[in-house]
Amino acid sequence: MNPNEKVTVATFRKRKAAGEKISMITVYDAPSAAICHSAGVDALLVGDSLAMTVLGYKNTLPYTMEEALHHTKAVRRGAPDAFVIFDMPFMSYQTCDEEALRNAGRAVKEAGADAVKLEGGAAVSPLIEKLVGCGIPVLAHIGLLPQHIMTAGGYRKTGKTPEDAERLLADAKKVEEAGAFATVLECMPDEVGKMLSENIGIPTISIGAGPDCDGQVQVLNDLLGLFEEFTPKHARKYAEFGRIFREAVTAYADDVKTGKFR
Ligand code: KIV
Repeated sequence: MNPNEKVTVATFRKRKAAGEKISMITVYDAPSAAICHSAGVDALLVGDSLAMTVLGYKNTLPYTMEEALHHTKAVRRGAPDAFVIFDMPFMSYQTCDEEALRNAGRAVKEAGADAVKLEGGAAVSPLIEKLVGCGIPVLAHIGLLPQHIMTAGGYRKTGKTPEDAERLLADAKKVEEAGAFATVLECMPDEVGKMLSENIGIPTISIGAGPDCDGQVQVLNDLLGLFEEFTPKHARKYAEFGRIFREAVTAYADDVKTGKFR
């Protein structure tokens, strides 16, 4: 990315039309946001994965609006000019539209988010339309939905049968019609990611949906090798920060113990 280019929802549309890929990464704090933005990543997602990668929860379900606002404010302080997306926590948008609109409004007004993300296809498209109608850009998220692990019975790849691939296409078309500026596609066969990308007009951002999507999103802690509980299949590790971190702190602790630290 040209570091002087200000990313907006129009950038997403332009990139797809020009066949240029979009990079997105999750960030949860100010210093990481500053580094990722200056490194040229197009968009920063304050993903609810932070519930697990940073806050130590077992899944994303306990994550709250207050936690999301707290971290998004930090990201905004670290990268004032970045395109920042606020991931709506579980049950912050499902109870009723009024509550969803109020919470999305807080993301923009209090935390300075440029857009919100919410999980679901056809089922949430009426809400997407309302949010966009109020002036709040929405990034949709279809395929594997981590906020639905209880009803799905775990983290399951989607789109493995022709019927399920058709359902995903219907979801993708619905969120596009509702006005989402792009959609995340999570965990589906590469051919399904490609088929969806070719059949909708908004950019598709893959996390485990193959190389033919219009962009990619990765969880920062996976990419840096900092999340050691488990490594999802779609994670691409670019560094071993967990190991380096442990070695550094072990050396420090040893130095103090042995009196070498002065
Ligand atoms: O919370 C998250 O990290 C996400 C992904 C799309 C990366 O939703």
